[in-house]
Amino acid sequence: CVHSFIAIKPDGVQRGLIGPIISRFENRGFKLVGIKLVSPSKKHLEEHYADLAEKSFFQGLIAYMGSGPVCAMIWEGRDAVKTGRSILGATNPLASAPGTIRGDFALDVGRNVCHGSDTVDNAKKEIALWFEETEIQSWKPAAFDWVYEKP
Ligand code: GTP
Ligand code: MG
Repeated sequence: CVHSFIAIKPDGVQRGLIGPIISRFENRGFKLVGIKLVSPSKKHLEEHYADLAEKSFFQGLIAYMGSGPVCAMIWEGRDAVKTGRSILGATNPLASAPGTIRGDFALDVGRNVCHGSDTVDNAKKEIALWFEETEIQSWKPAAFDWVYEKP
């Protein structure tokens, strides 16, 4: 089963968007298997966004992500990484389609409300960085057979 690491950034938490964002993943049929509020350290964030270290916006990004609690989540389901990215929308909200989270709730690339893993490999790394094994649940939602056709 495919897991994606999805985080509601400090602006999303402050703006009361935890509920609406969770609803979008639930409504689509994804299963929540891990969730917590975290105040990540600078070191933790620098590791999370290590591939962007050379970007001019890097220090601003780390300050933004460390400016308040982050809602860290693991969502499971079919193509969770790819579909999760499509639920989030394009990185720059000005280019995000209406109906996506960023396209409905954001205007500024530096305040784009949510994070989603971009590859299955990175999802594995991010989940290992943000969660302990014991914080990840294995369960079968009652509606499971109404979301997926039987093989
Ligand atoms: P994440 O899901 O947060 O990883 O976003 P992404 O995968 O859509 O984009 P990327 O990994 O390239 O960038 C990570 C984050 O850095 C973005 O979500 C933005 O918050 C921020 N960011 C990216 N590009 C810019 C930029 O040009 N200016 C500013 N200020 N922030 C940027
Ligand atoms: Mg990214």
